[in-house]
Amino acid sequence: MGQDRTTTKRHPIGVFDSGVGGLTVVRALRAALPGEDIIYLGDTARVPYGSKSPRTVERYSLTCQQFLLDRGVKLVLIACNTASANALPALTASSPVPVIGAVEPGAMSALAATRNGHLGVIGTLGTIRSNAYATAIAARDPAVKLTALACPLLVPLAEEGWTDDEIARLVAKRYLAQLFAGDKQIDTLVLGCTHYPLLKNVLADVATELAGQPVAVVDSASAMAEAAKEALGSGANRRTGAGRLDCFATDTSRLDELAPRFLGEALTGFELVDL
Ligand code: DGL
Repeated sequence: MGQDRTTTKRHPIGVFDSGVGGLTVVRALRAALPGEDIIYLGDTARVPYGSKSPRTVERYSLTCQQFLLDRGVKLVLIACNTASANALPALTASSPVPVIGAVEPGAMSALAATRNGHLGVIGTLGTIRSNAYATAIAARDPAVKLTALACPLLVPLAEEGWTDDEIARLVAKRYLAQLFAGDKQIDTLVLGCTHYPLLKNVLADVATELAGQPVAVVDSASAMAEAAKEALGSGANRRTGAGRLDCFATDTSRLDELAPRFLGEALTGFELVDL
């Protein structure tokens, strides 16, 4: 990894996202690598990335990554699917440490889960327009069929905490009906957005109902955590105590309310930073 693993072992892992949704990745990361210190940056002043142009997403993402690199991280995780889909080459090129995006691990999980080679992927407008999932999947298995759909309303729904009610179900049905109209055989649905794991139950129920067969639902959060474990190898911090989680944000409005929803537990707070 270009650095001496014995000296970098105790360095933190850096995770960034356009906002707080990336805490779903931190949650999975802490379960997979409990001894690691983690620095999380949410670019909450500039969220959402999903509706912005690739150029802007790349520019914002580079400043987020630099913030983490300046704090000596040994590995960067791009929790944001939109940033991963639009800025991975630029981020990789400007980092001296390994960089893991969300798309590749999510695509791999989907390929491992499908039985019939028909996949569906949902994400923000920026992620779907980039074709990043289609490219990653076609590179591995050109025979696999992928149907993609942008579902912009799912992000505010997850932030509002309306994740398991009648409204969530109606919105999921409206979107997924379009997806399954494109390919009724879809047996695996990729949640290509940081926020969607919160809606996993509803999305799985609605997808299964529309398909008339069980649909496997995969998200990139746990796949990214596994990819991080693999990338670190002997460079992972295997101490017995729990690692620290230091959170930074470019705006702190509503964080106390939103962050625990994504992390799945209370957290001590965010430090405000200006990138
Ligand atoms: N973090 C974004 C993603 O995973 C969702 C929120 C946004 O649009 O910035 O694509």
